[in-house]
Amino acid sequence: MRSKVTVVGAGNVGATTAHWLATRELADVVLVDIAEGIPQGKALDLRQSTPIIGKDVALTGSNGYEETANSDIVIITAGLARKPGMSRDDLLKKNYEVMESCVTQVVKHSPNSILILVTNPLDAMAQAAYKLSKFSRNRVIGMAGVLDSARFATFIAMELNVSVENVNAFVLGGHGDTMVPLPRYTTVAGIPITELMDAATIERLVKRTRDGGAEIVAFLKTGSAYYAPSGAAVQMAEAILKDKKQILPCAAYLEGEYGIHGLFVGVPCKLGARGIEDVIQVRLNADEQAALQKSAESVRQLVQVIGV
Ligand code: 2OP
Repeated sequence: MRSKVTVVGAGNVGATTAHWLATRELADVVLVDIAEGIPQGKALDLRQSTPIIGKDVALTGSNGYEETANSDIVIITAGLARKPGMSRDDLLKKNYEVMESCVTQVVKHSPNSILILVTNPLDAMAQAAYKLSKFSRNRVIGMAGVLDSARFATFIAMELNVSVENVNAFVLGGHGDTMVPLPRYTTVAGIPITELMDAATIERLVKRTRDGGAEIVAFLKTGSAYYAPSGAAVQMAEAILKDKKQILPCAAYLEGEYGIHGLFVGVPCKLGARGIEDVIQVRLNADEQAALQKSAESVRQLVQVIGV
């Protein structure tokens, strides 16, 4: 039997998530949105592409949650996206209201699912979904580290003119301006980038990674990035659906790991059939630990505003 993935939100991120899921033939997909006709139209269009791409998956669209029943994974992308000049945090209260309505529905219809959160501000929305769903912490995962690491890897590959497949980039922390790219743990064909680039170059690439989302918002003007964010969510879903035990940076609810308690922060996680099966703790130097704490603090400020 095929797996079933619900994608909540049929905007650019949600529809592109459905697209990547279909192209990888990972699961049947239900696309949900409150906008009448949009999820139905996009899902039907995608379904009509399956003979062309040669993938046997069913895609359906809906304005309600009945069709989503018993999903294995629910990827939540619903909410407002950033406009130029807005930070991810500006979206906080509006998107919390979106979480309140959709997480309740998801829990009712797919009580055993694993949630992947994509809505911004990411870490706070993951915390909101965790508290609202009352799921165990291994079943609520925030997407961000995969995206931020992919951006860092892209810039490194461009700078060194090497294959992206050679680059293994490592970014911790919240998905915001305080994210913590870790050059020491970032390698090209196993070689730390600190051996391949000078400090100024690394700092330039780190800065571009931190500003990676804003750089795209500035180009698009009416929205934010969606190809890489949706691709990142689908990589996480694939690791879970195939029980790959793949270590990916994800926002996870920490209960003492890295000295952080009761908060979603980006850390390396082992993803498998049970969701987050382990949080990998790497040794950080004093500067890195301080940067991670600072990042956690900015997440804490957000979750206090919405009281989760
Ligand atoms: C980004 O970084 C939208 O947060 C997303 O592009």
